[in-house]
Amino acid sequence: MKIKVGVIYGGETVEHEVSIISAIQAINKLDQEKYEIIPIYITKDREWYTGNMLKDIEIYSDMNLIKKYGKNVILYAKDGSFVLQNKKFPKNIITDIDIAFPIMHGTNGEDGVIQGYLQAIGIPFVGGNIYASVVGQDKVFMKDIFEKEKLPMTKYTWFYDCDYKNDSESVIKEIKKLKYPVIVKPATTGSSIGIKVADNDKELTEAIDNAISYDNKILVEEVVTDLKEVNISVVGNYEHQKLSVIEEVISGNKFLTYDEKYIQGNKGKLKGGFKYPVKGGSKGMASANRKIPAEIPDKQKKEIEEIATKAFKALGSAGTCRIDFLIDEKSKKVYINEINSIPGSLAYYLWEPLGVSYSELLDDMINIGIKDYKRRLSKTYTFDTNILKGFTNGGLKGLKGVKGKLG
Ligand SMILES: Nc1ncnc2c1ncn2[C@@H]1O[C@H](COP(=O)(O)OP(=O)(O)O)[C@@H](O)[C@H]1O
Ligand SMILES: [Mg+2]
Repeated sequence: MKIKVGVIYGGETVEHEVSIISAIQAINKLDQEKYEIIPIYITKDREWYTGNMLKDIEIYSDMNLIKKYGKNVILYAKDGSFVLQNKKFPKNIITDIDIAFPIMHGTNGEDGVIQGYLQAIGIPFVGGNIYASVVGQDKVFMKDIFEKEKLPMTKYTWFYDCDYKNDSESVIKEIKKLKYPVIVKPATTGSSIGIKVADNDKELTEAIDNAISYDNKILVEEVVTDLKEVNISVVGNYEHQKLSVIEEVISGNKFLTYDEKYIQGNKGKLKGGFKYPVKGGSKGMASANRKIPAEIPDKQKKEIEEIATKAFKALGSAGTCRIDFLIDEKSKKVYINEINSIPGSLAYYLWEPLGVSYSELLDDMINIGIKDYKRRLSKTYTFDTNILKGFTNGGLKGLKGVKGKLG
């Protein structure tokens, strides 16, 4: 019997479109002999849809078609299985699902929100658990953990929007302990959205105002000026980790922009060579201009592999992650930049040079998801207690302190 995989994507995030691309790529590559693939698309206004026509990327250019021909559903646990049910008349069950596979980027998808929902209803799912997902999305939390592990990072500070509004002087004073140029980032967005480099005080306030429109938590870092950006992917869980080749991503701007990540390659600037283009549109993160493998000395390669493994383990990540690094070409110093818990295109292109096909990568991820689910089941999450017994006897015995307050 085939395993029914519900691929969940889209959602309320600035990376909605990128998520659609990543998900459709994966849907096309999941082994159809092994899996029955059920697309579950979440619109920007949080409605869930299913239907085979969602496997075709062209449908997403007209939301009305999806609303008209897709089935508006909810996913929940029913009689020991997990079902997708029509929200509208005749409210029939459309299918059951064995395992959920979130391929979502950014807020409400990669950040623990969807993982929390999936865990709450009890369905097995692919990828990191709630904790790894939350920390992997919040650049400040992430840095706290990296710091604990003594991983090398650029100098940084962070603040809340309210503190900036109440006392901008103190916040600016703190930022000025860093050296210009600095890079200002909303703590929880992705795809370079809301990020600006500032070379002076005027640019700094502009960059802060811009970042604040995306998030209430803002990170400011020193810029690595002679920059080489390299990424590596890790597959596994807290027990085992496998490392991909390292890529170098190439930017013609001050930093790698949204356009460079997802759009330029489709304007013919790239030599191409990616085997899984999505018909008529962006190839997602696979579009960016890159060198594989990165041309770096062995010593740096080793350092990056070690840091990546430590970061993956420390966060308790699972499935596949892409971990990004900044190399200062002058000092040859390596800094960890961030971890992407559900990377664009699931970073499949970093595995192919090692002979791992995209389908095999997806298989691996599903197997890890099943294993992690079984482990969760084997742990004890409840225990028997008679603490509530007093209530049924009509009293509050044993809760003396509470009695007075409730009485
Ligand atoms: N400290 C830094 N120095 C130089 N460039 C940086 C620095 N931090 C980020 N960048 C650039 O900005 C891009 C986006 O920043 P990143 O932290 O990766 O955010 P996102 O989650 O949006 O990808 C990076 O890919 C890199 O090009
Ligand atoms: Mg990044």
